Amino acid sequence: MSDEELHDELMTLLVAGHETTASALTWAFYWIDHLPEVREKLLQELNTIGVNPDLNTVAKFPYLTAVCQETLRIYPIAMTAFVRIVKTPIEIMGYELPEGTAIVPSIYLAHHREEVYPQSKQFKPERFLERQYSPYEYLPFGGGNRRCIGMAFAQYEMKSSWQLFCQNFKYR
Ligand code: HEM
Repeated sequence: MSDEELHDELMTLLVAGHETTASALTWAFYWIDHLPEVREKLLQELNTIGVNPDLNTVAKFPYLTAVCQETLRIYPIAMTAFVRIVKTPIEIMGYELPEGTAIVPSIYLAHHREEVYPQSKQFKPERFLERQYSPYEYLPFGGGNRRCIGMAFAQYEMKSSWQLFCQNFKYR
């Protein structure tokens, strides 16, 4: 890569990766603060962490994971994925889409389908403990080959903030 390409790649990662995760964490803090029952359950789980915990173990905590997933479901940081262009004519749910059609998948609308997420406007991390969602039902990072390149990193980053959750909410 030329210096210019390298510069552009780094800028992309910085811009795409900074505010997105920061906004997601801000919403997580909002929900944990807003809902005492969520806060209690989360702190109960986080209290089982000993001294010098292994972050990979913490990242697998079910309730912490569910809180992060629900945060990205209810108000997806990117409301839509990037545009896709139809290359071969296709029919989707009765709509004929000719070659060249531009499609913008709405992540927000997918995350608020009542038949998939009952009471979709309510923050309920338990949904993610009760069932698994397909990539067509839950897609905060988009989908397919061009889904978010930072998907795994962003989720790990969110969960690595568990110490901040503890510090901020322990004494409420
Ligand atoms: C909670 C945090 C994040 C959310 C919700 C998010 C969401 C998304 C979404 C919805 C897309 C479009 C994918 C598609 O059209 O299918 C995307 C693309 C992208 N994201 Fe993220 N993102 C997050 C964090 C990050 C981080 C941490 C990085 C990098 C370190 C990153 C880098 C990128 C890049 C480079 C693309 C373009 C991928 C491509 O076009 O091939 N994102 N992201």
